[in-house]
Amino acid sequence: MSKPDFQIDETDGPALTRAWVLHPDIKNDNSRRDPGPALAEAAALAEALPNLELIGADVVPLRAVSAGHLFGKGKIEEIGKILHDEEIKLVLVDGPVTPVQQRNLEKVWKVKLLDRTGLILEIFSDRAATREGVLQVEMAALNYQRTRLVRAWTHLERQRGGLGFVGGPGETQIESDRRAIDEQLVRLRRQLEKVVKTRALHRAARAKVPYPIVALVGYTNAGKSTLFNRLTGADVLVKDMLFATLDPTMRSLELLDGPEIILSDTVGFISDLPTELVAAFRATLEEVLAADIVLHVRDISHAETEEQARDVREILASLGVPPETKTFEVWNKLDLLPDDKAEAMRERAVRDESVLAISAISGEGLEVLQNAVAEALQGALRTGELTLGFADGRKRAWLFAQDVVVHEEQTEEGFALEVRWSAEVEAAYQRL
Ligand code: GTP
Repeated sequence: MSKPDFQIDETDGPALTRAWVLHPDIKNDNSRRDPGPALAEAAALAEALPNLELIGADVVPLRAVSAGHLFGKGKIEEIGKILHDEEIKLVLVDGPVTPVQQRNLEKVWKVKLLDRTGLILEIFSDRAATREGVLQVEMAALNYQRTRLVRAWTHLERQRGGLGFVGGPGETQIESDRRAIDEQLVRLRRQLEKVVKTRALHRAARAKVPYPIVALVGYTNAGKSTLFNRLTGADVLVKDMLFATLDPTMRSLELLDGPEIILSDTVGFISDLPTELVAAFRATLEEVLAADIVLHVRDISHAETEEQARDVREILASLGVPPETKTFEVWNKLDLLPDDKAEAMRERAVRDESVLAISAISGEGLEVLQNAVAEALQGALRTGELTLGFADGRKRAWLFAQDVVVHEEQTEEGFALEVRWSAEVEAAYQRL
């Protein structure tokens, strides 16, 4: 697949690329974040890349951005000396860097440089597992590259043979690169449409067995996959690594004394998600739009838990999750809090029925969580009475398979059934 510009050198075996993270802290920036946690998150992002050794990370205070070089002259020299002494090969700048700034800084520092979008794209392309995920990341990477065609894209040059691209005479490098990208985008979009269609077919097939869908959403590293595994007994990749989950994972599971549901794990959210990726990942998150219940998993022990929760709520709203979708906040990692704080959280959860305090690791609160979900689903169920003839054996078997029959009596003509079902199951029954 096509990758963003940067490629870690793997020719020398397992040698690790020495990297440094810089977080520009711009004074007059309205969206300025607390530099401490922002730097920590950027470092965690960097560590999510394979074959990379993070040597150091710094906040760089800036009064204003320099158009040509991002940083001021003095700063560039100062940082350049550190980079040289530490033999740094890759600099990750936690923020937007224009192509001109990138080229200039790479020249002065003699390093490879990636900005925040480039870094997240790298991680995404490394993690994407399903065909759809791979295609989406590829498209996002190409869109990103397209806006940055002021210099030669080494990897595109490498790929040109493979693409069978022949540039007409007189075409500039940029024009031909852009055309190559556009052609590739058209090809990818067609493939993606096919994949999405197949998925829609699968979904339609699933709608015939309409278990309610419960979607786990949350900031990256909140503990979604840990909770998913704990509830389903599945073995989804869990790592202290950002974006371990990039493609939605679905499993059916039976709640404690409750109905069968489909639980879906989704990609983790992150603040300042590159716009290219927000668009590309809409489809990945479409399961959330179809969910009957959303579980918003939060790392309640994180210093920025409130900001993270706000970001997640904003993204959910912008995705178009219907406001009437029942949403629980799942306050996870209770075990990491000091006793008095954990106790305060538990009390809060008792008072507020939309809050569940848990630890996916210790298992605390998971029973209450399952009961709350089951109850919320029950609320959406209604009772109905049906009479079936002896010839309706197929319908009767279907109803039992849906687990919606609460009472049955045999009559002279057939069966009298009492059912408790959701609107979806009822509609599916009418179509039988
Ligand atoms: P993304 O895939 O990045 O979206 O992450 P995620 O939300 O799926 O998080 P994941 O389940 O991968 O967990 C992230 C880290 O938090 C792992 O190291 C988990 O072991 C840890 N973790 C999850 N839940 C708990 C918890 O209740 N307590 C503690 N102490 N650690 C937890």
